[in-house]
Amino acid sequence: MKDLLSKKHILIINPEHEIEQSLSLAFPELERPKIFAFTSGRSALAQLDHIHPDFILSTYATEDITGKDVFLALVKERTLKAYRHIPMGLVSEEKERNQYGKLLFDLGLRFWMSTPLKPDVLRELLINLFLTEGLYRQSSTLQQEVKKSEYRFRDLLENANDVVFILDEMGNFVYLNNRFQSLTGFDKDAWIEKRWADLVDISDRELALESLEMVHHGRARIFEAKIQTKQGEPVFLSISLTPIVEKDAVIGVIGIGRDITEQKRMEKEIVELKNFNESIIESMEAGLLTIDLEGRITSLNRGGQNILGLKIDEVIGKPLTSVLQPSEVEELLSNKSNNPFRKREMQLSLKSGKKVSIGFTVTDRFDNQRNKVGTIISFRDITEIKQMEAQLIRMDRLASLGVLASGIAHEIKNPLAGIKSLAQACDEEFENTDPRREYLARIIRQVNRLDELLRTFFAFAKPKPPDMKPHRLTDILREVYNLVSKRMEMNKIQYVQQIERDLPSVHVDPQQMQQVFLNLILNAIDAMPSGGTLTISARKVSSSMSGIIRKLSPPQGSSFHSFVEVSVADTGIGISPDKLEIIFDPFFTTKPNGLGLGLSIVYRIIEAHCGDIWVKSYPGQGTAFYIVLPTGAEK
Ligand SMILES: Nc1ncnc2c1ncn2[C@@H]1O[C@H](COP(=O)(O)OP(=O)(O)OP(=O)(O)O)[C@@H](O)[C@H]1O
Ligand SMILES: [Mg+2]
Repeated sequence: MKDLLSKKHILIINPEHEIEQSLSLAFPELERPKIFAFTSGRSALAQLDHIHPDFILSTYATEDITGKDVFLALVKERTLKAYRHIPMGLVSEEKERNQYGKLLFDLGLRFWMSTPLKPDVLRELLINLFLTEGLYRQSSTLQQEVKKSEYRFRDLLENANDVVFILDEMGNFVYLNNRFQSLTGFDKDAWIEKRWADLVDISDRELALESLEMVHHGRARIFEAKIQTKQGEPVFLSISLTPIVEKDAVIGVIGIGRDITEQKRMEKEIVELKNFNESIIESMEAGLLTIDLEGRITSLNRGGQNILGLKIDEVIGKPLTSVLQPSEVEELLSNKSNNPFRKREMQLSLKSGKKVSIGFTVTDRFDNQRNKVGTIISFRDITEIKQMEAQLIRMDRLASLGVLASGIAHEIKNPLAGIKSLAQACDEEFENTDPRREYLARIIRQVNRLDELLRTFFAFAKPKPPDMKPHRLTDILREVYNLVSKRMEMNKIQYVQQIERDLPSVHVDPQQMQQVFLNLILNAIDAMPSGGTLTISARKVSSSMSGIIRKLSPPQGSSFHSFVEVSVADTGIGISPDKLEIIFDPFFTTKPNGLGLGLSIVYRIIEAHCGDIWVKSYPGQGTAFYIVLPTGAEK
């Protein structure tokens, strides 16, 4: 108690000194505050600077102005601003107090004591006053601390990199930080009291309102929404809304919006890039297959599915050996030369039974850290290329053979003609009955045979270009049949002809075509030494059905849309698979008296007709040759 008052300065204005007396009665000397007494109000106010009073106590009447005027001067005068907060009390009779009490208390007067002054009461009053004053000070410094931290907090909010906002319970803005302004270009004050949902782009507004509704039920929400800047540019925000709860009721919402426009743009770019890559891979005709380190298939594009004749569901997650033979897989994945791109060519038998040639390129797949994570296998169906290659080789062989054959034929033809005419001249020298004429006749027969052989050579070496016109296949076949019917009869061969009704005419040279069928039928007869059946069938096919027609340019002026497929099938000895490739080669023969030219001539003629020929044979069961010919211009 001593400390509470003894250090205080009390300024007293009392012309009669009654307060001074009362104070000295109220406090023992040691406890007594330091007293600065004045008799004039004006001079007291003039000394404030020197005294720095903690409390002012004045009687109503002073030598000059009233105690009331002193108080009003303290409250209102600008020069006394610094002293405005010094607590002040008045001492007077009841009358003045009743008259001005309310007004002065409203302005902050602390107390008003009635005369006569009682020292006890004065003591109580002063002690109370200083106690409450001390508490008041303490609380005001506390308040200042709170204010300061609030400023720091505000500072943080204002300069945050995210948009921070507060909504009232109606969902209207009550606070927006600076970031809002810099991000959207809108004036933040203009948005205060505006509906928050109106800031959100119309496309996301429903979501925004729904989210706000949930937050009003006390749950925090995070969602993405588009807003438009003042310039009309879209900005994507990740918005988190948190309820402000007071006494179990949501009284507002704190929102934080993070600008994710760039992130969105990158996400979109990545998705687009992914789609772009995928669409390229999917639209490729070539096959693309990937496997992981365990050899399981992780992807197969559409091109690959087409080539292999497999559906994606049949292969994903399965080992590569479910698509290829284990030996094929081993060959494909082996990398002895440590080559980053390994090329392989393989013949595969597909599930459908079809045989295809595939060209593979195999390369390792790495992740960003250069760890191997699998293998990429790209492949192409090169069956047609392989066929064309074989065809080119065959044509090349035929052509060089042709040159050779015509050279030899020429060299032999003249000496042969000489031998023949000399033999004939000799023959005329001899008597009719001379037995030596028989020798000459043999010479001439052998020369004739050689001559015949040479003609075949010539036909092969210098084939005439076909004179193509529309002809009925049945007419051509009839001519051929007449030539071979006898032989078939002798060999106990049954002849069957299955020609589709309304078969279109074929665009061919009839002489050459007769030669084709003659050769095929003679071969068939040779293949059935103990009889059998020879079947000739013909049907119309469209180019897409045939699938085999690989002639790149049909003869000028013609446009072939449809084709006739003719097959010549026998039930003979068949051809072993290893021979199938070479039967069209000139001079390949398995017959003691064969020349091995029949099929190569057939091949040439079909070639010149822009047709195609292939063979299927089963040893011990029979052989079928298939020919495709363009149909004629008219039916
Ligand atoms: N229908 C067939 N059945 C079995 N093998 C055949 C058949 N057609 C052809 N061949 C085989 O193909 C070979 C070549 O036939 P190609 O017609 O070219 O010659 P060739 O018949 O031997 O002699 P030629 O020159 O007299 O025709 C034959 O020797 C035979 O081995
Ligand atoms: Mg033959």
